[in-house]
Amino acid sequence: MTEDEVKMGTTVYVPHSSCRDFRWMGDYEAVYRESVKDPEKFWENIASELEWDKKWDKVLEWDYPDSRWFSGAKLNITKNCLDRHVNSSKKNKVALIWKGDDGCERLYTYRQLHREVMRFANGLKNLGVRKGDRVCFYMPFVPEHIVAILACARIGAVHTIVYAGFGSESLHQRILDSQAKIVITADVSIRRGKRIDLKSLVDDAIVNAPSVERVVVFRRTQPEIELYAEMEIDYYDLIKDESNICEPEEMDAEDPLFILYTSGTTGKPKGILHTCGGYMVGTYYTCRYIFDIKDSDVYWCTADPGWITGHSYVVYGPLAAGATVMFSETTPDYPDLGVWWEIVEDFGVTIMYTAPTAIRMFMKYGEEWPNRYNLESLRILGSVGEPLNPEAFEWFYRVIGKGKLPIVDTWWQTETGMHMITTIPGDPMKPGFAGRPVPGIIADVVDKDGKSLEPGISGKLVIRSPWPSMMRGVWNDRSRYEKYWNDVPGCYTTGDMAVKDKDGYIMITGRSDDIIIMSGHNIGSAEVESALVENEAVAEAAVIGVPDSLKGNVIKAYVILKEGFEASEKLENELKYHVRMTLGPISMPSEIKFVQSLPKTRSGKIMRRVLRAVETGADPGDLSTIED
Ligand code: PRX
Repeated sequence: MTEDEVKMGTTVYVPHSSCRDFRWMGDYEAVYRESVKDPEKFWENIASELEWDKKWDKVLEWDYPDSRWFSGAKLNITKNCLDRHVNSSKKNKVALIWKGDDGCERLYTYRQLHREVMRFANGLKNLGVRKGDRVCFYMPFVPEHIVAILACARIGAVHTIVYAGFGSESLHQRILDSQAKIVITADVSIRRGKRIDLKSLVDDAIVNAPSVERVVVFRRTQPEIELYAEMEIDYYDLIKDESNICEPEEMDAEDPLFILYTSGTTGKPKGILHTCGGYMVGTYYTCRYIFDIKDSDVYWCTADPGWITGHSYVVYGPLAAGATVMFSETTPDYPDLGVWWEIVEDFGVTIMYTAPTAIRMFMKYGEEWPNRYNLESLRILGSVGEPLNPEAFEWFYRVIGKGKLPIVDTWWQTETGMHMITTIPGDPMKPGFAGRPVPGIIADVVDKDGKSLEPGISGKLVIRSPWPSMMRGVWNDRSRYEKYWNDVPGCYTTGDMAVKDKDGYIMITGRSDDIIIMSGHNIGSAEVESALVENEAVAEAAVIGVPDSLKGNVIKAYVILKEGFEASEKLENELKYHVRMTLGPISMPSEIKFVQSLPKTRSGKIMRRVLRAVETGADPGDLSTIED
C-alpha cells in the first residue's frame, strides 16, 4: 500500500464474508440520507427505544449556538442503565466484569449493580448531596468508581471526574472551578504492581478549596490509612447501614449530568458540560448501532472513566444498551504482554475498543504475544483517541482480527459526547481514514468561510448541525463555548484538520490549534507552559508536540532561562519533575531544550507552529507576522 493510495482512499478492505449480522450493514447510505432529511424524526425514533418518565414536547429547539433536545422530557439515566434491565429478563445478566491490576476478578449482575448504586446514592444523600451539587472523583479504575458515578446520576448530582494520573494542582483547579462539595477518592491506585498514593494528592488539592465539605475514601490496602473523622469517611462505612432502595431523582432532559475538563488553548482547562437526555440518547445509539452491541456480547473498552471514552463507552452507553461490560485496571504490558489477550480469551470478549497507542505498543513487541491466546470470540474491533495509522490498522486487522473482523475507527471528542465519524461495522474500511459521518451527523471539511472543500483538499473539520449529545456549554465560561461556533460561520469547529476522499470517507490529519494529542490524551501546550514558568529559573516556555512512532506525539518544551540561571541536566530534570507533580505524569515533557529566544509575532505571541516546522522539517507557513 503506497502513501498516495492511502491518501486518495483507494486502499479498501472489503468486509469478510463472515460479516453478516451487523444491524446496518449495506444500509449506511439509505439510513444516512433519511437521517439528514428529517433529523428530528431520526433522533426521536432512537430516543423512543429508551424509557422516559415523561416524553418530550419538542425534539429540538435550536437557537444557534444553543440547543435543547427532548425539551419537556423527564428521565433518569440510571433507570435506562439499570432499572430497565432489572425489570426485564436481563435482571441476572452480568453487567460488569472487572479485572484488577493484581489479577483479582469481580462480577456484578444488573440486579447487584442496581442495589449497590442505590445504596451508595443513599450514602451520598446522607452526606447532604442534592440535585445539582458537584461531586468530584479522583479514583482508580475499580468497580466502586462506576457504582459511585451512577449513584451521582441517580440523585441528580453532577459528577466531575478527574483522571487519577493528573497531579494535585490539576485536581485543585478542577475542584475550584466546579465548586465541588464532595470528593470521592481511594487510598491508592495500583499500576503495574506499584501503589500510587492518591489520598495525599487529594489532601494537597483541597487546601484552599472551601467548597469541599467531605471526602469519601475507598480504602483498598492494609494496614488501612487513618481518616480524619471530621471531614473524611470510609466508602463502605458510608453505606453500611444504607437501604438498597433509592428512587431516582426525576431529571429534566436538559439538566446537567456531568462536567468533564478537557485541555484548551489557554492554561485553564475547560469544563465541558453534558446534560441528561441528549447524552443518553447519543451514547446509547452509538453503542447499539456502531458497536452493534447484542445480548450475547462481552464488550470491553480499555479506557479509564477519567476520560470521555470511559464516561460514554464504559459506563453510560453500554449499560443503557444492556451490555455485559468488561473493564480492567491492568496495563497492557503488566505482568506481561499477554495480559489483555488473556482477558479476551478468558472472558470471551466479543467487542474490543482500544487506542492506537496500545496497538502500536503491541506491534513493537511482535505477534507472538497475542498469538498465544485464542481470540476467536472477537467480532468487532474499535479504535479511538488519535488517528489509527495504516500500519497499525493493518496489524490490528491481521493479527487480532485474523483478517476477518471489522475495525470501527471512531472519531469524536469530549465535546461531542458520542461517535461522530466512523466506519460502520460491515462497511468497506479504508486504512488511515476514520470513515464517514454517523447517521444523524453532518460533518464536513471546509475552508475558513465554511465552504465545502473538494475531495483531497485539506481543511477544517466541522459539524454543520446540532446533535443530541453535543456539549451544552463550558462551565462558568460562555465565551469559550461561543468560540467553538464563531470560527467558521454556521458550524461547530472541531479544531481538527481533515481531508475527504471521493466516497466521503474522512481522514483526520491533525489539530489546527495548540492541543497535543499524546497517546490519545488531550494536552494543552499552554497548561504545560504555565507549569514550567512557575519555576523561578524560567523566563519563558513554549511547548509543542513532536511526532512519535509509539505515542503519536510526545511533548517537547523550549525554555528561556532568567538571567543568572544556567542550563543543566539537573535543571531539566527539576523542571520535568515539577510538571509531573503539578499536572501529572501524562503532561511531563520528554525533552526540554534551553534556548536564547523563541519565534514570536510582533504582538509577542509565541509561534509554536514555527517550532513544530523546525522539528519536523515541514513548511512553517506564513511567516509575515514573525518578529525575528
Ligand atoms: O484530535 C482528535 C482526536 O482526539 C481529539 C479529541 O480528544 P478528547 O476530547 O480527549 O477525546 C478523545 C476520545 C474521543 C479529537 O479532536 N481523536 C479522537 N478520536 C480520533 C482522533 N483523531 C483521529 N482519529 C480518531 N478516531
